[in-house]
Amino acid sequence: MSKTILFASGKGGVGKSTVSATLAAALAAKGRRVVLVDADIGLRSQDLLLNLESRVVYDLIDVARGRCLLSQALLESPDIPGLFLLPAAQFARCRDLDPKKLKRILALLQGQANYVFIDCPAGLERGLRNVLNAGASEKLHVETVLVVTPDDLSVRGAERAASLIGKKDLSRPSLLVNRLNPDMIRSGDMYTAQTIASLLDLPLLGEIPEDPAVVTAQLRHRPVLAYECEARRAFLRIADRLEGGAPAFPSYGGGKPSFLRRLFSPKLREAPWMASAGAGKADSGSAPREDTKPTAPAGDSQSESDDEISP
Ligand SMILES: Nc1ncnc2c1ncn2[C@@H]1O[C@H](COP(=O)(O)OP(=O)(O)O)[C@@H](O)[C@H]1O
Ligand SMILES: [Mg+2]
Repeated sequence: MSKTILFASGKGGVGKSTVSATLAAALAAKGRRVVLVDADIGLRSQDLLLNLESRVVYDLIDVARGRCLLSQALLESPDIPGLFLLPAAQFARCRDLDPKKLKRILALLQGQANYVFIDCPAGLERGLRNVLNAGASEKLHVETVLVVTPDDLSVRGAERAASLIGKKDLSRPSLLVNRLNPDMIRSGDMYTAQTIASLLDLPLLGEIPEDPAVVTAQLRHRPVLAYECEARRAFLRIADRLEGGAPAFPSYGGGKPSFLRRLFSPKLREAPWMASAGAGKADSGSAPREDTKPTAPAGDSQSESDDEISP
């Protein structure tokens, strides 16, 4: 049976596109047929990540509006056979995508692939709502994955996205924590994935470290999996879990730091101006104080009401 997964987040830039592309590649490399739908209308990215940017002719909006057949818009990855992309429209808006049409497209894709992944637009507005409305159907059996980075803004966004998902007819999301920095976790400067999962009260699907190889891969338009790196191992574990496996969770930041690591790990020190702030020196600095009302320059005859902006 086909598995359909929506990759969403509250905040943008947390790695939805990177994560959905790499997991799609990992599953296709295992011999599964995977279709990745780029639903980020107006800001398509998956064509770049999958090295297909020069081959896009038709897109999701073209299919939804009947300007081409679904098969004409689907592009197969040049690097990984069995991995297909349905690109987003670059010059359209989220409201141009009719959720009913997307629902129909998802139903068709489910008949053709083992996995259908949907890379959602960021934020909590119309774009995400349209995609959630399309996925919210008992017949489609859509699962949702929330991608989050270990910071308060992203966690707050994820909380709002989870509540939006909860209002639709969709399953409870699982959580992917991306861009973890083991050294920062060890020094107590970053949340662990488990802490975020318990803050959001969501099951943890996986954790991915911050890895420069991800940036290099994207710069070269190559799959992350093409490089032997920690992120690759993390993605393979998550792909295994999607297939029903139960690989152990890594302990990013767990365990005791080694003697050498403790010796060489940089210590964060406060900068001098922060140390002096609030110590009676605020008036001597050049920064304006918030509680000081600006006064009119001497000789300025304008009255206060002249400062009002007329319509
Ligand atoms: N695990 C990671 N390590 C390093 N960089 C990452 C990682 N995941 C994502 N990035 C970088 O973060 C940026 C945003 O990722 P992207 O997948 O476009 O996010 P989104 O789709 O949520 O907007 C990209 O520049 C990407 O290279
Ligand atoms: Mg994206």
